[in-house]
Amino acid sequence: MKFYEAGVEGVERLGEYHVLRYRWDAEEHSPEPGRFVMARAAGFPATLDPFLARPLSFYDYNGGVASLLFEVRGRGTENLARKKAGETVEVTAPLGRAFDLSELNETSRVALLGGGIGVAPFRFLSRHLARLNVPHDTYLGFADGELAKAADGFDTPTVATMDGSVGFGGTVLDAVAGSGGIEQYGALYACGPNPMLAAVKLAAPPDVRCQLSVEERMGCGNGSCNGCVVPVKHRGYVRSCVEGPVFDAGVLAW
Ligand SMILES: Cc1cc2nc3c(=O)[nH]c(=O)nc-3n(C[C@H](O)[C@H](O)[C@H](O)COP(=O)(O)OP(=O)(O)OC[C@H]3O[C@@H](n4cnc5c(N)ncnc54)[C@H](O)[C@@H]3O)c2cc1C
Ligand code: FES
Repeated sequence: MKFYEAGVEGVERLGEYHVLRYRWDAEEHSPEPGRFVMARAAGFPATLDPFLARPLSFYDYNGGVASLLFEVRGRGTENLARKKAGETVEVTAPLGRAFDLSELNETSRVALLGGGIGVAPFRFLSRHLARLNVPHDTYLGFADGELAKAADGFDTPTVATMDGSVGFGGTVLDAVAGSGGIEQYGALYACGPNPMLAAVKLAAPPDVRCQLSVEERMGCGNGSCNGCVVPVKHRGYVRSCVEGPVFDAGVLAW
């Protein structure tokens, strides 16, 4: 897998999360909402700390600057969070399948549903939909008010928190129910923990296209390790880094 050395524009806090911005010339490899990169803080010999790069979704791409929104979980994200403007990170070109927007038009009504750090792809997707004049609502769910500060990075989201400290008390689906119901939407896009994605799949009306972005653990990001498989109907397993991470809900066998 080819890694590119990209110039860091800055790393800022967004509540409990971090936003890392880096220069990316999209002429050859264009970021799209739903796609991701494998990112690591440095090349050899520091690549051994940790050994594998980490998959992160595009949070935004604007004016030649790509950004990633991430939660520090372990060594990989900790190293990225320490980066400073003027330093470099190593990133791949955009990977995986983007959200499919081909059936949308100005009369579609669309809901974006993000849970926890799964909110990351929806700023970029929302700006994309705005450019296409597709009416859409963004619902962001968090465990508590501290994490919900990440909603400040989004354009007029509806926020839900499990502890009820900000916005709707409950899940992101409770917020949809309290805002007119899921039936008003002609397409659904969701990203978050698997139990949330399973709940969205269950709640989606049968005639509505529902696309889910899964976040399996990934080793290589290019289809060669089989570490990221998800079960699909009638076909066993597929690799979420190549065939996903965005899947039609009906395809997934869970
Ligand atoms: C396609 C894709 C897109 C992603 N986009 C984002 C994003 O935009 N922002 C973001 O913060 N994270 C995202 N993730 C998750 C992110 O890749 C992991 O949090 C990261 O790899 C953790 O690396 P680490 O070295 O910091 O932690 P590690 O030391 O590797 O792990 C720390 C803890 O995090 C857990 N963990 C690691 N990877 C995952 C995962 N994929 N899902 C759930 N738990 C995990 C581990 O089980 C462990 O408990 C994405 C994952 C995928 C597959
Ligand atoms: S991460 Fe290696 S095959 Fe998907």
